[in-house]
Amino acid sequence: MRALSGSVLEADFWDVGGAVSEAVSAGLHRLHFDVTDGTFVPRISFGDRIVRSIARRAGVPSDVHLMVERPELQAAHFGGVENLGTIYFHVEAAEDPGAAIGAIRALGARVGVAISPGSDLAVVERLLGSVDAVLVMLVEPGAGGQRMIPGMLGRIRALDGARRRMGLDLEIAADGGIRAENARDVLDAGADVLVVGSGIFGQTDVAGAVRRLLAELGSAVGR
Ligand code: DX5
Ligand code: ZN
Repeated sequence: MRALSGSVLEADFWDVGGAVSEAVSAGLHRLHFDVTDGTFVPRISFGDRIVRSIARRAGVPSDVHLMVERPELQAAHFGGVENLGTIYFHVEAAEDPGAAIGAIRALGARVGVAISPGSDLAVVERLLGSVDAVLVMLVEPGAGGQRMIPGMLGRIRALDGARRRMGLDLEIAADGGIRAENARDVLDAGADVLVVGSGIFGQTDVAGAVRRLLAELGSAVGR
């Protein structure tokens, strides 16, 4: 099922709960939490305590995008998060992808593997049979508000082809630089989930931004 997911990375944290409620009331399907450690990417965002508080009350599933070193160890901190959806780990950060997959599964969460623009897609393709989802980064990980790297749409097409060939029930999510203006291109490439940060939570009219994105996606989108 196709879905719109909102990343709170660029939200105003003074009233993040209010912004999330507004977005969910307007039809947002999922939340996306970008957890960074200042090592895998330069900045530090927030950790499991913030995710836990918001996820409990959001009323939609919450996905966690771990942009951290040693995801196989960090994943355990998200145990007991309510309404947890998928936890994505970066293939570049995992010394042992199998251990990261096992740690996430042990929490009862769905497992996703994320890939940065500069990394070899073949590394992720080898894992497709062992994960539930792939997160294709359309920008360099670590910050919202960047422009999509257009060449990344080819990766979505390649993964869409691979899952069909292999007969896999695999979800493809796309993250970074998505706006109402290019959302249709990302869906047409084969993405199921669009992750939008500043295009939703960086806007003054959060509900209007969600409605505009949903309208662009049309009937292709659902919870
Ligand atoms: C970037 C994060 C994204 C980010 C998206 O490293 O993974 O989830 O918040 O933000 P926008 O939509 O502003 O590119
Ligand atoms: Zn993200």
